[in-house]
Amino acid sequence: PVPNVALSDGNSIPQIGFGVWQVPDDECFTAVTSALTIGYRSIDTAAIYGNEVGTGRAIAAAGVPRDELFVTTKLWNSADRPWTRDRVLAEFDTSLDRLGLDYVDLYLIHWPRPMREDYRTIWQAFTELQADGRARSIGVSNFQPAQLRTIIADTGVAPVINQIEVHPDFAQAELRAVHKELGIVTEAWSPLGQGRGLLDDPTLTRIALERDRTAAQVVLRWHLQIGNVAIPKSVTPHRIRQNLEIFDFELDAAEIEAIEALDTANRLGGDPATFDVG
Ligand code: A2P
Repeated sequence: PVPNVALSDGNSIPQIGFGVWQVPDDECFTAVTSALTIGYRSIDTAAIYGNEVGTGRAIAAAGVPRDELFVTTKLWNSADRPWTRDRVLAEFDTSLDRLGLDYVDLYLIHWPRPMREDYRTIWQAFTELQADGRARSIGVSNFQPAQLRTIIADTGVAPVINQIEVHPDFAQAELRAVHKELGIVTEAWSPLGQGRGLLDDPTLTRIALERDRTAAQVVLRWHLQIGNVAIPKSVTPHRIRQNLEIFDFELDAAEIEAIEALDTANRLGGDPATFDVG
């Protein structure tokens, strides 16, 4: 079983989840079905991924009791303003319909910047969704420290999670320290560095060889040991399985330190300070 991480609202989230970014809707059914069969209990999707329908169909078909699942989706931050309370609630309903669910475990604001100051209105509406139980937990994604502090000051409600890009060569130590101060869990997107060059790094491949693991498993183990929740994505069944087989070994202090030395601030995705949509 996958260990859970406690959230500040009293709920908890499996420390490894299955991410479906860039998985087309028709493939998503197969991928999520594999993940649920292999033992994943947390699935991370988003309205903009276009695969909430496939995700929901796989959830329905798998027959896992709803209360054993943790389903995350995200509000798309169209720059088409203004964002009002009612519009947020309508977007949420549409996501629930597509998923075929009557609640989600976690609802996130996807990116803060395209909505400009409207992210504050959106967060107010999120607190209503949580109060009526349809979003059991509420959080954000790609938020910067000032934005986190603003929504907390506005509402007194802290996001339980900030889902951000983190991998060993983009370790985000400063932002993670802010999260710790504010009681926010760090959830890592692209935790494997998108499976690109990072997994061939000599330090990681050396540790992997010594531990009889893969570089991907070593990276995921690093996430666990620094307290992150991680949502690796794969459409390959043996990798989906491998990415969950990380609870029976531990990196030692020297290995963690060696991995920490890999940080080159190598951002692969959008920069929250500038990320915009038309
Ligand atoms: P694929 O989906 O073809 O299996 P991230 O989660 O950081 O965005 O990384 C996702 C990318 O990493 C995907 O291209 C995925 O490929 C690849 N990947 C996922 N798990 C592994 C693994 N265990 N070993 C190697 N590559 C992996």
